[in-house]
Amino acid sequence: MRAYGLVGAGEITAAIVEGLSADVADPPAVFLSPRGRQVAHELAGRLDAASVIVLAIRPDVAQQVVAELEFRPDHVVLSAVAGMPLATLRAWTAPAAHVVRTIPLPQAARRHSLTALFPDHPVARDLFEPLGGVVVPPDEPTLDAFSAATATFAAHLDYLTTIAGWLAGHGVEPAAADAYVTHLFA
Ligand SMILES: NC(=O)c1ccc[n+]([C@@H]2O[C@H](COP(=O)([O-])OP(=O)(O)OC[C@H]3O[C@@H](n4cnc5c(N)ncnc54)[C@H](OP(=O)(O)O)[C@@H]3O)[C@@H](O)[C@H]2O)c1
Repeated sequence: MRAYGLVGAGEITAAIVEGLSADVADPPAVFLSPRGRQVAHELAGRLDAASVIVLAIRPDVAQQVVAELEFRPDHVVLSAVAGMPLATLRAWTAPAAHVVRTIPLPQAARRHSLTALFPDHPVARDLFEPLGGVVVPPDEPTLDAFSAATATFAAHLDYLTTIAGWLAGHGVEPAAADAYVTHLFA
């Protein structure tokens, strides 16, 4: 079975791991690289076992983190790093043969993430189709458009939080205000 090495142990990694593992009889092997464990040789050892490397770190630290890893020609790199172009990722991860940009969503935890990715690759499909499906745009600029659209979700959540706060300010118990707004926009 395929083994995944996830670099960065934040929100999106947690969602992917939960979606891959929860209620799954025979989940794939997953190797995590939390920052606290980032002694270079130990990290390299953990990722040695993986044929697929998922980059789930923020753009501002990505180059520094990736520079400490050693990629092999047989590695497939799936990058979730927002906005990082393929050409840059390929240069950073050489000699890895294949690099795919992906936009997984937190809904991956419930296997409801429609994950935009480019270019198309069977390894990326194997990971993300069970987590809610994939959408593959025709080119990289179109993937960037998906990325921009995805970013509006944070503003949407802020909007809902503002409404719930307003409701709570009008005498509704805060948990009940949250529950009502969740129901209203569900
Ligand atoms: N969240 C989303 O909905 C979403 C959707 C699509 C794409 N993305 C992209 O996915 C990437 C990860 O997002 P996220 O939301 O999962 O971010 P996050 O929750 O902030 O997680 C980032 C992880 O990277 C770790 N990290 C930071 N510096 C590191 C280092 N030097 N070495 C190793 N690990 C390090 C952080 O460790 P610490 O906890 O110790 O800081 C944290 O565990 C970002 O590029 C983001 O734009 C996110």
